[in-house]
Amino acid sequence: MLELNFSNMMGEVVGQSGIPEREIEGIKTTVYDIDKRIKAKERPELAFIDLLEQDISEIKKIASAVRGEFESFIILGIGGSALGPRAIIEALSPLHNLDKKPKVFIYDNVDPRTFDRILSLADIKKTAVNVITKSGSTAETMSSFMILWDKFNKTVPDASKRFIATTDPEKGNLRKIADEKGFKTLSIPPGVGGRYSVLSPVGLLLTEVIGINADEMLQGARDIHKRCTDPEIWRNPAYLFGVLLYIMEREEKRPINVMVPYADGLKPTAEWFCQLWAESLGKLGMGLTPYPSLGTTDQHSQLQLWMEGPEDKVVIFIKVDDYTVDAEIPKVFQDMDGLNYLGGHTLSELIKAEQESTELALAKIKRPNMTISIPKIDAYHMGQLFHFFEMATAFTGFLYGVNPFNQPGVEEGKNFTYGMMGRKGYEAKRQEVEKAREKKMCWRV
Ligand code: PA5
Repeated sequence: MLELNFSNMMGEVVGQSGIPEREIEGIKTTVYDIDKRIKAKERPELAFIDLLEQDISEIKKIASAVRGEFESFIILGIGGSALGPRAIIEALSPLHNLDKKPKVFIYDNVDPRTFDRILSLADIKKTAVNVITKSGSTAETMSSFMILWDKFNKTVPDASKRFIATTDPEKGNLRKIADEKGFKTLSIPPGVGGRYSVLSPVGLLLTEVIGINADEMLQGARDIHKRCTDPEIWRNPAYLFGVLLYIMEREEKRPINVMVPYADGLKPTAEWFCQLWAESLGKLGMGLTPYPSLGTTDQHSQLQLWMEGPEDKVVIFIKVDDYTVDAEIPKVFQDMDGLNYLGGHTLSELIKAEQESTELALAKIKRPNMTISIPKIDAYHMGQLFHFFEMATAFTGFLYGVNPFNQPGVEEGKNFTYGMMGRKGYEAKRQEVEKAREKKMCWRV
């Protein structure tokens, strides 16, 4: 079961820069209140909790057809529609495309070079495409869909049989096209927003396509859910996670949250978390700034900053108890003092020792940090991690008094893009862009 060790966040351990127990006691009434609001599903977007009980038989059916018929599987999506699937495949089937079928390509960033490369690697005649967009109108996703749809139509007689649309059950352009053309479809329930959708068909179809039982992921999520809805804060890892980081930002002026998994396969999970945390909480002049990192790699890149840089961060480790495979370091070069200590140990011993040492080194100089541990990286524990972070984020949004489910701040940039791309109704935005460009000219070197 997932565990949160927050000793190094507490005043008793890290002194002045830590949180006194009484401060957490003091916030208990607020926590009880938020807990009630979550349980009452005060906001419709809390529907992400209902995903834990969904029927996934249709997902399994479609995935099995994809596995049986196709050599490549392209996912088109962005934001929550891509970060979740990427976190899943990297955690549960690392370096997948080197020896597994179907090969999986997740295309989000409308970078033409990446697109070109994917098309040179995936043979259209043997490819299925999963277009994922809740709104059904996101420019990045829909433009790459339009290109692929056109290409497939020119190449294969049954293009519509190769497209799976994961979208709103009723609304949006993609739903309309899918119904008209007869695509297979999977629905993202109305209340579930992009960044809370990893445990919906958005992430579960890919899970099944790569041969992993999505039921286990949901079971993991269900099991952690009980603990993440315990009104007693000292027993609830999700509420504690939020409360600790909230107090660290409000009282201790530490607004930066570094997320450091000690496992290559969890780096995309850290990136997924960063979207969830940033887009959900960054509102009304408040928020917590997450950044994704990787242990041990970033001990040779970022750690100096965490140790001796500005005192504005909390480091959050993700620790894996059992890597399930290992390699022993042989006793070679025994006459070399700087190397002979390694012989006889294993790689997992080394990575774990490095994680623990970094935790300790930070605590020793009173730099707060905490550690989330999972027993191993499998579907069951990925389900726990995802749901734990989603519960923590929703809770923390309520704690800050912001809506953790919208993203009004991203609209203006989109409107400028619509203007530049000639969308009807956005002519004024185009003019604004052109004016701004003129101004910029004066300050170029
Ligand atoms: O969390 C969110 O809602 C967003 O980040 C979306 O996932 C992202 O903008 C993509 O939206 P859509 O799924 O509608 O294409």
